[in-house]
Amino acid sequence: MTATSERQTTGRSRGISYQQLLDTDTHPVPQCLREQSAPYLGDHDVPVAYYTERRYHELEKQKLWAKVWQFACREEHIPEPGDTYVYDIADRSYLIVRDRDGAIRAYPNACLHRGRQLRDGAGRVTELRCSFHGFCWNLDGSLRQVPCQWDFPQIDQDKFHLPEVRVGTWAGFVFINPDPGCEPFEEFIGVLPAQFERWDLANRFVEVHVAKRIAANWKIAQEAFSEAFHVVATHPQLLPGIGDANSQYDVWGNVSRAITPNGTPSPHISWVPTEQEMFDSMVDRRLDEEPVLEVPDGMTARELSAKASREALRPIVGDAIDEFCDAELVDSLDYSLFPNFHPWGAFNRIVYRFRPNGDDHRSCIMECLYLSPFSGERPPPAEVHWLDFEEDWMQADELGSLARVFDQDSFNMPKVMSGLLSATKPGLTLGLYQESKLRQFYNQLEEYFALREETPR
Ligand SMILES: [Fe+2]
Repeated sequence: MTATSERQTTGRSRGISYQQLLDTDTHPVPQCLREQSAPYLGDHDVPVAYYTERRYHELEKQKLWAKVWQFACREEHIPEPGDTYVYDIADRSYLIVRDRDGAIRAYPNACLHRGRQLRDGAGRVTELRCSFHGFCWNLDGSLRQVPCQWDFPQIDQDKFHLPEVRVGTWAGFVFINPDPGCEPFEEFIGVLPAQFERWDLANRFVEVHVAKRIAANWKIAQEAFSEAFHVVATHPQLLPGIGDANSQYDVWGNVSRAITPNGTPSPHISWVPTEQEMFDSMVDRRLDEEPVLEVPDGMTARELSAKASREALRPIVGDAIDEFCDAELVDSLDYSLFPNFHPWGAFNRIVYRFRPNGDDHRSCIMECLYLSPFSGERPPPAEVHWLDFEEDWMQADELGSLARVFDQDSFNMPKVMSGLLSATKPGLTLGLYQESKLRQFYNQLEEYFALREETPR
């Protein structure tokens, strides 16, 4: 590392640092929030061609999606033996199955006869039967029946097994990796289980699941949620109550995170907001709306927000909620697992996933799931609420006030896509710290491009 790069990567915004803010917490702060990992990730530009050129989409299909561990579904989507789920990525489709013994298995979603997809969607079955000619497999992938078997003397019944795709699970999330020679799942996810030890995402249910098609490359959409740098221009209404430029960014291998403090003023504003103004901004209160809560004298917006969250969660979580600090109840703890999975920490509820829209590199699917705690019997997961290109997030009432913020984000995305298609400057110039998550992503992606063999089709 050169002296110049050390100088550059230690640059930080004025204003209170996240670690200093944690010192003011009314509860003990967990170690995971105290950790910091901000290595130098380079200062090079990211090629515009990664977003615009078809050949990089083809390269992603061959060297990323065919090789990487990726979030497919939640275990709650396939709770019982025979439950199936179809996960599509780019031009490929995978079938996730709960076997009779409770194990989760995955197969390419293709019949070994003429290749028709074995399943068109989720559902409970006793066997995997192709609806074209009726070739049939057991849930464990072993061959069950060949119709007109007299006509297939060449089929060795013991070898005509559905090819297995590797499966890993963490915190109720099911991941697959189509590469039989891939690294172990536990190695791939690295620090994620340790970081989430206090936040039991396995015992949450999918209360909300919205998927929206967006006219932009999937990485453009993902990167709109990878830093708080854009808040000053895209969400200025939040500035009185968000420490946007005082966010903390960390990277550890395939895992990265952006922690954005709430209930603290942005260093971008030149006036000092009252605690009430900070609180109103946190809840996105409009001028003509009554205050959600009045901040009592002697209390801060952060303290009130944390207290309100604790009391809202107490009937579900019980008194264990008192073990969580203000930061865990107030701040945005946005974790990412390469390449496209974004579970938020503590009780933020949000999980994002970004994928190409089928085989189109100029459009994508962004999903937002809310994982909520529950008491008693696990409620069934929400059905996916699809929003097409022209439909706003605001049409998904279940998202609550975040829909307005998502619409502000999504407004930029097609305009980034068309801007990049017009750009003559060959690269994106990224910040060294605030855009750490982007830099880390491209460093990882380039490793996949360079090291992984192309998958023969
Ligand atoms: Fe945003």
